[in-house]
Amino acid sequence: MQVRAVVRGVGHYLPERIVENAEFEANMDTSDEWIRSRSGIERRHFAAPGETTSDLATHAARAALADADMQPDDIDAIVVATSTADLTFPSAATMVQEKLGMTRGFAYDMQAVCAGFVFALANANALILSGQAKRVMVIGAETFSRILDMTDRATCVLFGDGAGALIVEAQDGSGTTDDRGILSTDLNSDGRYREILYVDGGVSTGTSGVLKMHGKEVFRHAVEKLAATAHTALDKVGLTGDDVQWIVPHQANLRIIKGTAHRMKVSMDRVVLTVQDHGNTSAASIPLALSVGKARGQIKSGDLVVTEAIGGGLAWGAVVLRW
Ligand code: UT7
Repeated sequence: MQVRAVVRGVGHYLPERIVENAEFEANMDTSDEWIRSRSGIERRHFAAPGETTSDLATHAARAALADADMQPDDIDAIVVATSTADLTFPSAATMVQEKLGMTRGFAYDMQAVCAGFVFALANANALILSGQAKRVMVIGAETFSRILDMTDRATCVLFGDGAGALIVEAQDGSGTTDDRGILSTDLNSDGRYREILYVDGGVSTGTSGVLKMHGKEVFRHAVEKLAATAHTALDKVGLTGDDVQWIVPHQANLRIIKGTAHRMKVSMDRVVLTVQDHGNTSAASIPLALSVGKARGQIKSGDLVVTEAIGGGLAWGAVVLRW
């Protein structure tokens, strides 16, 4: 017997306002054709003025609770992966806890930028395996529109806002890869690459800053490191790309997603794609894709799912789970 962190519910939320690529054409030297062909992005959602990351996260959390047929007080812990928390502190997670009306348990944020959800899911798994929590709400939520330089065409067209949430619960498994739940994780970071993707503000500058990215450099690392971490996570439990029903990748760039699937020898009809409609929502992109993938009827109970992501840090990793 082995305890497993098993998915019980999933949900997501996207702000109402949809921004088509054409909106950027009006303000800067770019084109729908460039954005689509270089990134695969067609549109993204932007939060309304006053709508915060914890608001988005709370909507997604409510959707996941409804999907699991649970009440807020059924949850022991909330982990929010975000780089765009409402305030420097307290955490977005405690704000979500309050907005849900949850009066027990504990809540905290996790910051691994675009890899945040993978890190948070691995962390939720550790909470469950160590017996510290039985049910964990893992949320990825971002309002990247607030940290974009809207005059920098190389970055502002790529990102969007949104939130996704997953509830995992401790259940007894047999200890084999036939079990439902999280089967393996692989986490990595390398602080030497700080300069290729960062925000130029924070407590040290007294501003919240804007996102800076050397896209080509990040691209190069992404294609190489994402397939490697996915392979490592699969290898830890004796699985290969052939066993995978769905890759649910971080949705940053269609060309990176295709390159990673190719290296994993998994065909594109086994990849959940939302990048065209959401853009890059950083830590929110994987739970958004999990929720949309389930709603579309793509991901079904018993399917082997691999999630993988890379972002600022650099930080990257993968989680293998049976849905
Ligand atoms: O989520 C965190 C991880 N982030 C990522 O994974 C992002 C990784 N990087 C990428 O997705 C790609 O590198 C980009 C989509 C950002 C860029 O694609 P690229 O094929 O690497 O293009 P590039 O940066 O080399 O730019 C090519 C050209 C440049 O012009 P020159 O110097 O060749 O004359 C850019 O100035 O495209 C130009 N350009 C644009 N043109 C029209 C850059 N942005 C735009 C734009 N519209 N929005």
